[in-house]
Amino acid sequence: MLNIAVFASGRGSNFDALYAAIAERKMDARIVALISNNSGAGALEKGRSLGIPAYHISRKQFGDDAAFAHHLLDVLRSHATSLIVLAGYMKRIDAVIIREYHRRIINIHPALLPKFGGAGMFGMHVHEAVIAAGEKESGATVHHVTEEYDEGTIIAQERVPVLPGDTPEVLAQRVLAAEHRLLPSVVEQFANASVNP
Ligand code: GRF
Repeated sequence: MLNIAVFASGRGSNFDALYAAIAERKMDARIVALISNNSGAGALEKGRSLGIPAYHISRKQFGDDAAFAHHLLDVLRSHATSLIVLAGYMKRIDAVIIREYHRRIINIHPALLPKFGGAGMFGMHVHEAVIAAGEKESGATVHHVTEEYDEGTIIAQERVPVLPGDTPEVLAQRVLAAEHRLLPSVVEQFANASVNP
C-alpha cells in the first residue's frame, strides 16, 4: 500500500482528482495526510470533509527552518508516508526532507518543463509566458523534486494545444484538465510494483 501525503497551498483540485482516481481505479494507495502552509487553503477543507488528517503547518510557526522541517518529518513519519505529492504547493521543500524521501517526492507543474519553470513560474504567470512566447503547445509535467525549483527528472508529461485567441485563463483550464489526468496516472505507477518510475 502506497501511503501518500499531499502538500497543497490552494484550492486543491489536483488533490480532489487524485483522491477520486485512487478510489475509482482501486489503486493500491491511499492519501494519509494533507499538509498546507496556508490556513485558508481550499485543499485543507476538502481533506477534512473527506476525513483525511489535514494539517496547517507553516514556517512562521517555528523558530528556524530546521525546526519546521523536523516537524514536517515527524508528521510524515507518523503516517508512514511513502510518497509525497506536491499538488500546487508554493513553498520550497527542505533538504532534510528531500534526503529522507529521495525520489519519493513528486510535483505537478502546469507547463512542459524544462521550458517555463523555475523562479517566478507559478500560477497564471506560466500561462502568460507560454502565450507571450507564441508556443503552439503547452501541457503538464510531473517530475521528481530536488533542491532546485522544477529541476528534478521528468517522469511524465501530457501535451495540450495552445489555440489562437487563448487567454491565460482559458489555457490554464485546458492544462488543469491535463494535470487531473496526468497526476493520478503517475501515482498509479508508483502504486504499481511492476513499474519503478
Ligand atoms: C496547478 O496548476 C499546479 O500545476 C500548480 O498549482 C496549481 C494547483 O491547482 N503547481 P490546485 O490547487 O490543485 O487546484
